[in-house]
Amino acid sequence: MPQPQDFATRLENFATRFGDALDRELRAEKLSGPGRAPDRLIEAMRHGALNGGKRLRPFLLVETARLFDAGEPETLPAALAVEFIHCYSLVHDDLPAMDDDDTRRGQPTVHKAYDEATAILAGDALLTHAFGLLASETCHPDPAIRAALVTELVAGSGAGGMAGGQMRDLEGEKGGFSTDDITEMQQMKTGALIRSAVRMGALLGGASPDQFKALTLFGEEAGRAFQLADDILDLTASSEAMGKATGKDHARQKPTLVSRIGLNAAYSHLGDRIHHAISALMMFGPEADTLRETARYFAERQK
Ligand code: IPE
Ligand code: IPE
Ligand code: MG
Ligand code: MG
Ligand code: MG
Repeated sequence: MPQPQDFATRLENFATRFGDALDRELRAEKLSGPGRAPDRLIEAMRHGALNGGKRLRPFLLVETARLFDAGEPETLPAALAVEFIHCYSLVHDDLPAMDDDDTRRGQPTVHKAYDEATAILAGDALLTHAFGLLASETCHPDPAIRAALVTELVAGSGAGGMAGGQMRDLEGEKGGFSTDDITEMQQMKTGALIRSAVRMGALLGGASPDQFKALTLFGEEAGRAFQLADDILDLTASSEAMGKATGKDHARQKPTLVSRIGLNAAYSHLGDRIHHAISALMMFGPEADTLRETARYFAERQK
């Protein structure tokens, strides 16, 4: 009898399968419109998306939908959409006008491998393609669900979500942020998309209003935990392990909870977030164990 896989193996296998799906999606025949998508743009999009991310947001989406017995193929277009938004956000986050980073996922950032204009356009095209996927009939047979998914991803990635959070992050470099400002910025720049990934899984699964509310809380707590861990790792992990430069938040005087309350308090805060995330899943049984493990992984990850 096959042994049940441990969490790390399951996540790794998912990332491999999902990487293949990203690869199949980022091709001229899928990306072209009235004109043929230029090769250089496709290559830059592929560089930004196919280079070995952890794929945690699509994993959360798929695992949330799985609570309601929705299978991986049915959730794939929406999962791809969330990851495309995430990849675009990283391509733009690394630009000289933002965090000015040379390395991402152990490779040169897109603007280093190509040039800044190409990186901006690759980000734009990843972002746009995400919404095309949600609008397509393969995403869900019910147009009302497709529209709800679009609305959800707009909320998570737009001016009141990720993009707004990135704006707040840049404002924060100039100083004057309170602890509440830092928390709000974290919730927006990273938490909002993670929350959306969970809520999109719940929409695809057909969650009841109570289930949707509980999963939203789970996504919010997990999302806050994720950026907190990223900020801790920026201080404690090596750039080799992370595949990106570390020590940058201090160098750029980014206001983070770690810089504000210290490493020990940040660890304890992270523990609280994970505890709250797991408590939010109380109404679910063992079918939610993978989500619980994902929340724990958010805190314990080493990369
Ligand atoms: C990094 O996200 C950026 C943040 C939002 C903190 P991930 O740590 O999920 O990056 P990848 O996708 O695995 O490279
Ligand atoms: C990124 O936050 C949040 C995004 C929306 C991309 P960071 O700037 O801390 O992410 P890393 O450390 O560069 O991955
Ligand atoms: Mg940043
Ligand atoms: Mg950055
Ligand atoms: Mg960071």
